[in-house]
Amino acid sequence: MKVFDSGMPDEEYWNSLFDISLIVDWLDLEVVRDPIVEIGCGYGTFTIPVAREAKAEVQAFDIDQAMIETARRNAARADIHNAYFNLRDVVEDGTGLEPESSGMVLLFNILHFEGRRDLLDEASRILKPRGVVAIIHWRKDIPTPRGPRVESRPDKEMIMDSIRNLGLSCDGNSRIIEPYHWGMQLIKSSNNSKEIK
Ligand SMILES: C[S@@+](CC[C@H](N)C(=O)[O-])C[C@H]1O[C@@H](n2cnc3c(N)ncnc32)[C@H](O)[C@@H]1O
Repeated sequence: MKVFDSGMPDEEYWNSLFDISLIVDWLDLEVVRDPIVEIGCGYGTFTIPVAREAKAEVQAFDIDQAMIETARRNAARADIHNAYFNLRDVVEDGTGLEPESSGMVLLFNILHFEGRRDLLDEASRILKPRGVVAIIHWRKDIPTPRGPRVESRPDKEMIMDSIRNLGLSCDGNSRIIEPYHWGMQLIKSSNNSKEIK
């Protein structure tokens, strides 16, 4: 199931809507040693700069064949060899990755739908203990030039509501990411229990 309002505008325009280096810095990739997973990679706007900085491989997923082809081409042009692009409906079929095999999962501009808890559950399943889910989404507090309808955009409270009993907790790293986004990071519990106090 393709997430509604997840189609993409022209690539150059899309990329102009983010401070990409600020977002990559915020991820603190220096400390991530295990594979990084991106769900809904689009053009590879973040996949490619993340792969460039990462010490590990990046596994990127998208449901849209044209996005996968473009992202692969962009990675090749950028001389990136540690990013792998997978055509897959992650909402229906998950990632297919091994449990506790990843160090970080990126959920960028994709959690504006009712099934967000399923994607967060999949992220938790594939993360190693202490692994990180990084989320960015369009702000609701200002007008933005793109983005799904405001009522559907998640905020911190909606995410906290969606992660109950998934073994994820907020590490306090939640912030506005100028100009149009906000972000938060969640940590996978270090024990086997899915309960987070
Ligand atoms: C709004 S775009 C964001 C792309 C990228 N994360 C970014 O921020 O630049 C959302 C992407 O998610 C993909 N997508 C939507 N539903 C999906 C699904 N069920 N499984 C995998 N990818 C999906 C869309 O094809 C689209 O490329």
